[in-house]
Amino acid sequence: MNQVIDLLKSHRSIREFSDRPVPQALIDELVRVGQCASTSSFIQGCTVIQINSAGDRQKLAVYAGDQPYVARAPVFLVFCADMQRHRLACEMHATTMLSGYTEQFITATVDCALFAQNLIVAAESLGLGGVFIGGIRNQIAAVAALLDLPDLVYPVFGMCLGYPDQAPLSRPRLPLPVVLKQDRYDDSGDRERIAEYDQSVRDYYMNRTGGRKATAWSEQISVMLRRESRPHMLKFLRCKGFLLK
Ligand SMILES: Cc1cc2nc3c(=O)[nH]c(=O)nc-3n(C[C@H](O)[C@H](O)[C@H](O)COP(=O)(O)O)c2cc1C
Repeated sequence: MNQVIDLLKSHRSIREFSDRPVPQALIDELVRVGQCASTSSFIQGCTVIQINSAGDRQKLAVYAGDQPYVARAPVFLVFCADMQRHRLACEMHATTMLSGYTEQFITATVDCALFAQNLIVAAESLGLGGVFIGGIRNQIAAVAALLDLPDLVYPVFGMCLGYPDQAPLSRPRLPLPVVLKQDRYDDSGDRERIAEYDQSVRDYYMNRTGGRKATAWSEQISVMLRRESRPHMLKFLRCKGFLLK
């Protein structure tokens, strides 16, 4: 359709990188592009921490559930939802910020997602690749301590970036009628559509793994969602001053 759409449709996560370095000027520019994303009420609730120390990278790879590319990627960024500087802004005008609202948590978290998506798309447009790393929330308290995160700041996800050393297939997405509804939420027919989609996901895995894996999407989801999902999150976020009301 056009180059932007072609680029967006060719997205796939990259987890293996060549040794080609990514100049700091390029990283700076990608972060500036991230900043240009829409931001709720102009709040700009995202702070990015670039992790340079090899030792810290190694720790983060372990905290993320032993994901080696966190240590190996040429660039690793941590995206933090940040309501701390807003407290400063209020202080500058002799007011006390009311904090702890779930709405503020949503706002800053959404800002991070939009910022990061802008950044990775810009990176892909320049021939780089990357992958989001939600795994850092496995040991979120340890990550926050390592990065000296104050109250009202939490790490939402990390991101590996670099020049790709692999060319994985794109993962097929759900059929349009499952995700695009007209006027009302109507999921009749979705079970059949998902069953059909399952076959395309099985085919994708068969191709990607040379026939070793053929898991359907619904099966993958059913396995994932029968386990607890980072049950420590609420307590941690409340300790950081989020989700109190
Ligand atoms: C917020 C977020 C967190 C993610 N965390 C991880 C992660 O910890 N490790 C990983 O290998 N991939 C991670 N991913 C990548 C997804 O697995 C990937 O985007 C999804 O399977 C679709 O594949 P694709 O990006 O290649 O299209 C994450 C993606 C998002 C959006």
